[in-house]
Amino acid sequence: MTIPHLTAADGTTLPAIGLGTYRLNGSAGVDAIGQAIRAGYRLLDSAVNYENEGAVGRAARAAGDVRGDLVVTSKLPGRHHGFDEALTTIEESVFRTGLDRIDLYLIHWPNPSVDRYVQAWRALIEARERGLVRHIGLSNFLPEHIDRLVAETGVAPVVNQIEVHPYFPQREALAYHREHGILVQGWSPLGHGNDLQRHPVITEIANAHGVSPAQTILAWHVARQVIPLPKAASPQRQIENLDVFDITLSDAQVEAITALGRPDGRLADQDPAVYEEF
Ligand SMILES: NC(=O)c1ccc[n+]([C@@H]2O[C@H](COP(=O)([O-])OP(=O)(O)OC[C@H]3O[C@@H](n4cnc5c(N)ncnc54)[C@H](OP(=O)(O)O)[C@@H]3O)[C@@H](O)[C@H]2O)c1
Repeated sequence: MTIPHLTAADGTTLPAIGLGTYRLNGSAGVDAIGQAIRAGYRLLDSAVNYENEGAVGRAARAAGDVRGDLVVTSKLPGRHHGFDEALTTIEESVFRTGLDRIDLYLIHWPNPSVDRYVQAWRALIEARERGLVRHIGLSNFLPEHIDRLVAETGVAPVVNQIEVHPYFPQREALAYHREHGILVQGWSPLGHGNDLQRHPVITEIANAHGVSPAQTILAWHVARQVIPLPKAASPQRQIENLDVFDITLSDAQVEAITALGRPDGRLADQDPAVYEEF
């Protein structure tokens, strides 16, 4: 299956869907990620804090010819935002994957009260210059944090990975990122297994298209040019989740799903202005 790509302002392209890997660890993780690569996934999302860079790297190394098309992603944890520590952490990520370099490296959370995310960003810029990583970006950054990074370093991220699902559709954030040519990846795109897939608005639209609720939600992300990162362990679900690019939702259907959004729709109240993770 060939996956479309989206393009950031600097010309970097990323696959329009990726595999979430939180909780895919150890040998079972290697198997699940390997089968996802065979099914056609090319973007793999990991993080130092998921403790599975080893599993992702092992699956990527076993991918053979496909390795060149893979976008292996990891993220810098909040406890290592200092410049030198961040660079060492990135080196350790690369060593753990067993790859020559990591394709996309993100700052996991801005942790604004600690106020070291500009240092961390300078370290990511340096890591890219040294060839440790190919592309750099952010996760959970608010527009005000991004504006500051760009003002202080002159370097814009290619992507910002944020919480996006029908209960928290991030309408204003998407407009900001579109305006700045920054791609958006959506985390917990299916709502992390909550009641979304049983919501009548979703099931009605799913029935109208003859597809599953999960596919309907993923088609909504695709229609909004958000790169969803659904996590699925079984081959059946992984394949189902990839098979969404031929589902064309009407503008009214996209709007009906977006209308499920609520100001308090975050899954775990993780507002990056105040929530911090280390
Ligand atoms: N940057 C951040 O701060 C951040 C935060 C959270 C998550 N993330 C990333 O985003 C990824 C995805 O988020 P998530 O894992 O929280 O949740 P999610 O992808 O929204 O939902 C995963 C849940 O949905 C189930 N599922 C998957 N496909 C399905 C299908 N076709 N039909 C029915 N159920 C299906 C999965 O079941 P099975 O696993 O049993 O198949 C799992 O229980 C993570 O793995 C991680 O890579 C990033």
